[in-house]
Amino acid sequence: MANNLKIAIVTGASSGIGREFVRLLDKELISLDEIWVIARREERLKALAKEVGTKLVPIEMDITSKEAVGVLAYLLKEKKPAVKFLINCAGFGKIGRVTALPVEGQLSMVKVNCLALTELTLMVLPYMAKKSRIIQMASAAAFLPQPGFAVYAATKSYVLSFSRALNNELSNTGIRVTAVCPGPVNTEFFDLAEQTGSIPVYKKLVMADPEKVVRKAFYDSVAGKSMSVYGGTMKALHVLAKLLPHEFMFNFI
Ligand SMILES: NC(=O)c1ccc[n+]([C@@H]2O[C@H](COP(=O)([O-])OP(=O)(O)OC[C@H]3O[C@@H](n4cnc5c(N)ncnc54)[C@H](OP(=O)(O)O)[C@@H]3O)[C@@H](O)[C@H]2O)c1
Repeated sequence: MANNLKIAIVTGASSGIGREFVRLLDKELISLDEIWVIARREERLKALAKEVGTKLVPIEMDITSKEAVGVLAYLLKEKKPAVKFLINCAGFGKIGRVTALPVEGQLSMVKVNCLALTELTLMVLPYMAKKSRIIQMASAAAFLPQPGFAVYAATKSYVLSFSRALNNELSNTGIRVTAVCPGPVNTEFFDLAEQTGSIPVYKKLVMADPEKVVRKAFYDSVAGKSMSVYGGTMKALHVLAKLLPHEFMFNFI
């Protein structure tokens, strides 16, 4: 199926974690011919293309748009690339109680974080082979329900569950899927998230550097790990969420 064009596909490449992944791929994977970078803000993608040495192919698209996804499917059929990395970073969250947030924004979180991520994963999989890697941005919010961030946390539980199951299903193919589960990361994510509510102070105190989160996620993925959890605090949260009743933990999150 695939020809010699070796590529990575990164969604959410116009800012934050996705953009850091592109910078890291550029530094670490000199064997890539192209990185296809996806987001709605094309000018950001073009600026990134000027910054890195690897050839970037900016694909301006809303990943929830049927037409745009169709164009990507067509591009894949035309070029038949060998996709070495699919990195799904596009996503957003809105803080606030379910009854207080507009319905459309909450449904949109499900569309971007779950539906589009699934659609792109299924679309790209046929172009992947042994040693290819899928990196899915989940979140530590996947570890337990989060009142006040309910739909977002639920979408990330979906991503974690889907990714781990897919990783298991692909175990005899040499393709590995890694769900990345950081706590708060210092990106533009909170510009949007905090338009409707504030994050607790303790989350601001454990805010991680995106470059460090991405570096760990990349090497965990190369090592074939099914999950990447950055930092001691989030590792502890992961364990506690398995041990303690969630109703009790709701008092602290
Ligand atoms: N920052 C955190 O604290 C944190 C923690 C855990 C997990 N995460 C997850 O990590 C991922 C990346 O977040 P980030 O922190 O890097 O946030 P960010 O800086 O706000 O980046 C989000 C990216 O998603 C893209 N995007 C959003 N909606 C899109 C759509 N409909 N179509 C195409 N692209 C879309 C944005 O591009 P355009 O606006 O240009 O389209 C942007 O590139 C998200 O899935 C987020 O849930 C973040």
